[in-house]
This record gives sequence, C-alpha cells and structure tokens, in this order.
Amino acid sequence: MTTTTTQRRPETTVSDRTMEQPVISLRGARASLGSRPVLRGIDLTITSGEVVALLGANGSGKSTAVRSVIGQVPLTGGEVSLFGTPLRRFRQWHRVGYVPQRTTAASGVPATIREVVSSGRLSRARFGLFSRADRAAVDRAIDLVGLADRAGDPVDALSGGQHQRVLIARALAAEPELLIMDEPMAGVDLASQEVLAETLREQVAAGTTVLLVLHELGAVEPLIDRAVVLRDGCVVHDGPPPEAVGQHALPGHDHVHPHATGEPLRTGLLT
Ligand SMILES: Nc1ncnc2c1ncn2[C@@H]1O[C@H](COP(=O)(O)OP(=O)(O)OP(=O)(O)O)[C@@H](O)[C@H]1O
Ligand SMILES: [Mg+2]
Repeated sequence: MTTTTTQRRPETTVSDRTMEQPVISLRGARASLGSRPVLRGIDLTITSGEVVALLGANGSGKSTAVRSVIGQVPLTGGEVSLFGTPLRRFRQWHRVGYVPQRTTAASGVPATIREVVSSGRLSRARFGLFSRADRAAVDRAIDLVGLADRAGDPVDALSGGQHQRVLIARALAAEPELLIMDEPMAGVDLASQEVLAETLREQVAAGTTVLLVLHELGAVEPLIDRAVVLRDGCVVHDGPPPEAVGQHALPGHDHVHPHATGEPLRTGLLT
C-alpha cells in the first residue's frame, strides 16, 4: 500500500539497476553491540545520485547501520560494499563524507572552524600539504554552511546548531561523491535547517549520492527519492518517501499512505 509521488525521479528499469554499480550495498548485514543484536539482516542498495532517508524510532539501529557502512561497527554476518568494493578492501575514503550524529561531548581541543573543516580535506591533500585548490575547497565548504565570517573562531565557542554546520562543512570539504549524514537536523533551528537544506540541494544537483538519517523529513523532504524505515534492526519499508508518516510509522504500523494535504510532514518518531 505504498504511494508514488510526482516529484520522484524517473524509475530506472530493473536492467538499468543491475548494470549500475551500487554506491552502497548492504546484504544481510548483522551486527551486535555488547551482546545485543542491533542489525538483524539489513538489505539496502543505494545507486549513484540517489537521495535516501533512513528513518526509524530511537534505538532501531539507524546509526549502527550507517556506522557499519563506514566500517566503524564490524558486521557479524552479511556483506557491505562501497562503490562496488567490499568494505575490507575499500581505500578510497576521499569519495565518502560522513557527518556523525551529534553528541554533547566537547572535544576540549580549541580548534578553529577552519582547522576542523580543513581536517575533512586531508584525504584529498597530497602528503598533507594543502594546495590552492584544497584551501579553496575548504573556504567554499565554510561559505556553503554560512559561517564564512566566523572561520577563525574556536569551535568550542559555537552553539550546537553552528557546530553541526561545521561538521557538515568538514564532510563537504573533500567534495565527496557519497555523503552520509546522521541526523544533521537534530537540535538545529529552522533558519539553520534551511541553510542545511540549501547546502544539500546544491550537493544533490551536483550529482552527490546521499544517505540521510532523519527523524522528520522536514525541509529536505523534496530532495528525498526513497525512504527506508528500520524497526528493531530490520528494514520494514523501502520505497517512496511517505508523504506524511504521522503516527503510522510508529511501531505497530507498517503501512504508509497519503494524508490530507496541509498536514505537517512529520514522522512522529522523535519522541
Ligand atoms: N556502544 C553500544 N553498546 C551497546 N549497545 C549499544 C551501543 N550503541 C548503541 N547501542 C544499542 O543499539 C541499539 C541501536 O542503536 P542506534 O544508535 O543504532 O539507534 P538509532 O536508530 O540510531 O537511535 P537514535 O534515533 O536514538 O539515534 C540501541 O538499542 C542502543 O541502545
Ligand atoms: Mg542514531
């Protein structure tokens, strides 16, 4: 009982999909944290240029799933590959930008915005030496998130939402082909959400493949091609983004259907 929406990109045919190399491929992915199974057989394929939202209640395994994709959580079963290469052999990390879920822990290191964003460019800089192009990419990333006038400020003097923008600029500095962001909108005010949505729009227009962990589709909703919903470490929906998920995405509801227009786009999964 899924629904198609008009703003989606044209469907590729099955033969197109099999010819096209997936950017992310998870096959039967299983992972445990402590003694607890957290991913219980996840299948997820994301092809080039797709923008996929990963949704689900707190603790459903979203962060663990994206962390397994970048090798921070080892799989106990199944396979993960990036750009067609099994993760254990994957070395082209400059192709991947990752924004971790924000934590409240302060780093204690008084780095400036420019220093933190520059760290995201290290994978591109040859021998750690920044060329003019590297410096320009760093400045562009800082500018994209609207912090150009603060570039010399220490990051520990920033608000949570501004800090989040710095993490996003750090991921963008390497000009990645694949951008993975874990709840970039969490704790960010509406103005900052708009900045982030615009930043994302530019990345998507440039052809970047995006995997976004979200609680609410919100400002980025028009950019989303596909939504994948996790529950208890399993995929319970993979298809068109729900027009309004509302209460229906909460545990016990696995159907998705259109709602009356004017209803706010909320997944209702935040609490
Ligand atoms: N380091 C850890 N050790 C043990 N269990 C963990 C650890 N990290 C997470 N978990 C557990 O794994 C499960 C999935 O966590 P995960 O962070 O992937 O969920 P999530 O969907 O990202 O949730 P949220 O929406 O709160 O960010 C949760 O039950 C969590 O308690
Ligand atoms: Mg999480």
